[in-house]
Amino acid sequence: MRTIVITGSGSGLGAAVRARIEAAGDQVVGIDLRGQEIEADLATATGRSSAMNAVLDRTEGKIDGLVVCAGLGPHVQPRSLIVSVNYFGAVEVLDGLRPALAAGDRPAAVAISSNSIGMVPVDDPALLDAMLDGTEAEAVALAPEYDGSSVYAHTKIALARAVRRRAQVWGDAGVRLNAIAPGPVNTPLLQGSLDDAVLGPLVDALPIPLGRRADPDDVAASVVFLLGPDAGFVHGSVLFADGGTDAVVRPTAV
Ligand code: NAI
Repeated sequence: MRTIVITGSGSGLGAAVRARIEAAGDQVVGIDLRGQEIEADLATATGRSSAMNAVLDRTEGKIDGLVVCAGLGPHVQPRSLIVSVNYFGAVEVLDGLRPALAAGDRPAAVAISSNSIGMVPVDDPALLDAMLDGTEAEAVALAPEYDGSSVYAHTKIALARAVRRRAQVWGDAGVRLNAIAPGPVNTPLLQGSLDDAVLGPLVDALPIPLGRRADPDDVAASVVFLLGPDAGFVHGSVLFADGGTDAVVRPTAV
């Protein structure tokens, strides 16, 4: 039985990944604000380290998979919280649990980015640079200068780049690491954006060639694929699971 750690396992996409992994007979250690095996606030450095210590205690320092899924939508205030949860709450857990993954069986990790990485321009790279430099205090201070859509997309661009930047080091450690970039998925996070007077029309305006939004299980299936042996040579990639939106918006982006 494999042991898979999932952040944000209490709702939406994380809960759907959890259901698929458990249905396959594997074990999940969930991390969320409440209601999962490990309760922790990934917006803070102390919450992240207490979550990781709890994982190491429960698993004796050996895990086979990790999905960093906890996240906040572009409608959330203060916008600094989006930076702390979506970027630092993901990357610190990835890096902190890499040794436990390296001790696992055919280990792999997946970060949940977003197809917004191709939709929102980076006119001012200061926030993106602060995240990628690992200076959380600076990134948090910059967040109020950007609108919610930009902060959200910048956290997801930074996360996808963080994955790609780690390809050699994680490869050396024998751990595959990939990102997935979903389009709109029917979850409470998406509903929060749809209910927002500014963001809702922007989400609705996106073309989706497959003609529908995703259900959480649609995307969970792709996450489970990236975690598993059938993706054994997939590493450092960003998989768009967005019904074709990125393809029609950015047809030349390859
Ligand atoms: P959701 O709101 O259903 O689930 C997010 C989970 O993260 C919740 O259980 C929440 O409690 C947890 N979380 C939030 N802040 C936390 C914190 N400080 N500490 C610990 N846990 C925390 O959202 P959904 O849609 O399932 O989102 C999952 C991921 O997918 C997020 O990273 C999101 O950005 C990403 N995503 C979602 C899309 C969508 O349309 N729903 C599209 C693209 C990406």
